[in-house]
Amino acid sequence: MLLMKGMALLPFMLSLLVLLLHYHNEVHCYGDKQLLHLPWDTVDSTCLSHKSRQEKGATILEMKHQDYCYGGGVKDWNKLLQKRLILDDLRVQSLQARIKNMASTQTRDVSDDRLPLTSGVELGTLNYIVTVEIAGRKMTVIVDTGSDLTWVQCQPCKSCYSQKEPLFNPTASPSYRTVPCNSSECQSLAFATGNTGICGENPPTCNYVVSYGDGSYTRGELAHDQLNLGKTPVDNFIFGCGRNNNGLFGGTSGLLGLGRSSISLVSQTKAIFGGFFSYCLPSTQSGASGSLVLGGNSSVYNTSSPISYTRMIPNPKLSTFYFLNLTGISVGGVTLQDSSFGKSSMLIDSGTVITRLPPTMYKALKAEFQKQFSGFPTAPAFSILDTCFNLSAYQEVDVPTIKLQFEGNAEMKVDINGVFYFVKTDASQVCLALASLSFEDEIGIIANYQQRNQRVIYDTKGSKLGFAQESCSFT
Ligand SMILES: *[C@@H]1O[C@H](CO)[C@@H](O)[C@H](O)[C@H]1NC(C)=O
Ligand SMILES: *[C@@H]1O[C@H](CO)[C@@H](O)[C@H](O)[C@H]1NC(C)=O
Ligand SMILES: *[C@@H]1O[C@H](CO)[C@@H](O)[C@H](O)[C@H]1NC(C)=O
Ligand SMILES: *[C@@H]1O[C@H](CO)[C@@H](O)[C@H](O)[C@H]1NC(C)=O
Ligand SMILES: *[C@@H]1O[C@H](CO)[C@@H](O)[C@H](O)[C@H]1NC(C)=O
Repeated sequence: MLLMKGMALLPFMLSLLVLLLHYHNEVHCYGDKQLLHLPWDTVDSTCLSHKSRQEKGATILEMKHQDYCYGGGVKDWNKLLQKRLILDDLRVQSLQARIKNMASTQTRDVSDDRLPLTSGVELGTLNYIVTVEIAGRKMTVIVDTGSDLTWVQCQPCKSCYSQKEPLFNPTASPSYRTVPCNSSECQSLAFATGNTGICGENPPTCNYVVSYGDGSYTRGELAHDQLNLGKTPVDNFIFGCGRNNNGLFGGTSGLLGLGRSSISLVSQTKAIFGGFFSYCLPSTQSGASGSLVLGGNSSVYNTSSPISYTRMIPNPKLSTFYFLNLTGISVGGVTLQDSSFGKSSMLIDSGTVITRLPPTMYKALKAEFQKQFSGFPTAPAFSILDTCFNLSAYQEVDVPTIKLQFEGNAEMKVDINGVFYFVKTDASQVCLALASLSFEDEIGIIANYQQRNQRVIYDTKGSKLGFAQESCSFT
């Protein structure tokens, strides 16, 4: 804060200079820009026990970036930021492989079971966490719109990774029940996780397996117990009691599945929340917290623009995922020309970090961005990001606004915190935070970095998805 104040005048003068230059050189004057403050700001807080609130029929859970779980424990932020990008690419490759397999009508061969289910959970790239209660015990879990089964690590554990809260102990909960293997819930696992439920013996409980591509997994029994979302009780909530779990889940107690299929939290709470949920993903800036709102009364949002809705594109073969029709992109007010807009549906995902576009679409975006964001020293590419700058000499810069347009005239304006990825915290390598897919026929992904400081509203009943600008702040 002190640093900011001390330097307050300099940025102002720079802006003035930029403004004057713009007037001087009409050719480079683009209207639609946002101001980015530099450099990057590290987080410093705790990851556990997030708050909750009830308001106008909605249940609101505080949501934080998982970086909070590292607290002051990160020795090398550059390394963490760089590793995350590499892992993000692995997640996307896994998703593409899964989509290709599920979408194909061929019978599944054995190797499919080794394909990653959803996500880079184990890769540490699913970045947002909330705290819920199961049987009265607090559980801080990762939020994932790309998977369905909610699970927590369970006692006694055959093998559990280390978590910060005490393990869930089913024997201490009188309301805990296992789910029989001849139930429809057990049968729905095949659809939701890609693996059928396995019948245990005596009693014939339903055992689940969720396996991720790199050997990470959770295995255990399907059960139900009381879930509390803030003060809202959900009786007989079906979840996985994980007895054998392995992966980089970042010290959390498990995962909250917000996908579309019948076993997801959204489906199981339809009677309470009407199939509505929304979130505001905060940036990693210190103090930032966002929210997961369950329930549909939009008057609780802190949006600063009207909500615009677009249709969810149905895809019966990929029932977990949410698909949208991207019809256009503009950069600094200039509409990109590319024939692939509107041709295929894009996945919207809270778990992928960097948005991926088909190669020709990305090329058009990159060219327009470079044209408008010119005059800054360039920096080497890093991993999937190929449009990088050295901004270490600047306190703030004007960045062309990127807007994504969807079917039905819906628009998502990418927040200034979602345009650049800091590969180095000193801003000497700052990259455009969107990337190209390898092939034109792969599925594009609207990822979490570009969804920051937006209210993203999922209306599964009306089958539509809404966007509005919101500066995330729970407290
Ligand atoms: C499942 O099996 C139990 C015990 O064998 C039986 O009582 C129950 O009716 C079965 N339920 C279904 C849905 O088939
Ligand atoms: C939403 O909240 C407003 C303002 O409190 C209230 O008037 C309205 O009845 C609520 N709508 C629903 C559907 O609960
Ligand atoms: C996307 O929307 C455009 C414009 O409304 C429409 O022409 C196109 O058919 C849609 N594409 C898909 C995949 O639904
Ligand atoms: C980035 O720019 C600064 C200031 O202009 C310069 O001192 C530094 O060497 C550059 N860093 C890299 C990695 O190019
Ligand atoms: C809206 O902003 C107020 C004031 O900062 C905050 O208390 C509240 O939690 C916010 N609501 C949501 C849904 O984030």
